[in-house]
Amino acid sequence: MKMFTRAIVRKPAETFANGITTANLGKPDINLALKQHEAYCEALIKCGLELTVLDPNPKFPDSCFVEDTAVVTRDFGVIARPGDPRRLGEEVEIQKVLEPMLTLCYIEEPGKLDGGDIMQADNRFFIGLSNRTNLAGSKQLKNIVSKYNYEAYSIPVCNLLHFKTGVNYLGDNNLLIHKDFCSKDDFKSYNQIVIEDDEEYAANSLRVNDYVLVPKGFPKTKASIENLGYQVIEVDLSEYQKMDGGLSCLSLRF
Ligand code: GLY
Repeated sequence: MKMFTRAIVRKPAETFANGITTANLGKPDINLALKQHEAYCEALIKCGLELTVLDPNPKFPDSCFVEDTAVVTRDFGVIARPGDPRRLGEEVEIQKVLEPMLTLCYIEEPGKLDGGDIMQADNRFFIGLSNRTNLAGSKQLKNIVSKYNYEAYSIPVCNLLHFKTGVNYLGDNNLLIHKDFCSKDDFKSYNQIVIEDDEEYAANSLRVNDYVLVPKGFPKTKASIENLGYQVIEVDLSEYQKMDGGLSCLSLRF
């Protein structure tokens, strides 16, 4: 099934290790991170995507996590307003890249919104209210997407960096969800694949057309996804995990 045709990615910069993290997994190795990024890009190409690969931006150590800078669909894009001041400004270059591709709308002050807090599930957008995304940002996004006939719901996020750190929609009513996700009841209508603590990082697996990308090293999640009938591509993201970044954070897909 062809859901996406394009993706935007940005290579990590030599300043990558200076980015924001609470993971406590040690410093990332930039050479390994670059190799893993190449493999991630190859996986997206295997899924049928045409990639726009942006050069590293050393001014923003977290800027390889492009997903946080925008919300994109085939019909429109929304330029986000990153919720951590250290990342504010990353969205400017992404705006320039997206302008020729999509009709754009914008999150404006006092709104704060990270793309990692936004999950699209068919004709619905779930907007996680986290430390990075506030009510003003959520309201602005709701107004924008409702003009394009999408439903939108705000969902509280507790103890997680981003909403999609703990919940991801695979399609076909299937939802990966961490066992302790605080707003689990809001997703009762979905077929929940519950992720235990020891595989928490794999809750951020990513459906791209005929495949699901799953971080390497999480065999139970991989098996659960395969049992649903999906083809899995494993991607080693050890260096990104050290910087609190997941699979979905590394691309904008539309
Ligand atoms: N290091 C990714 C983030 O904090 O947004």
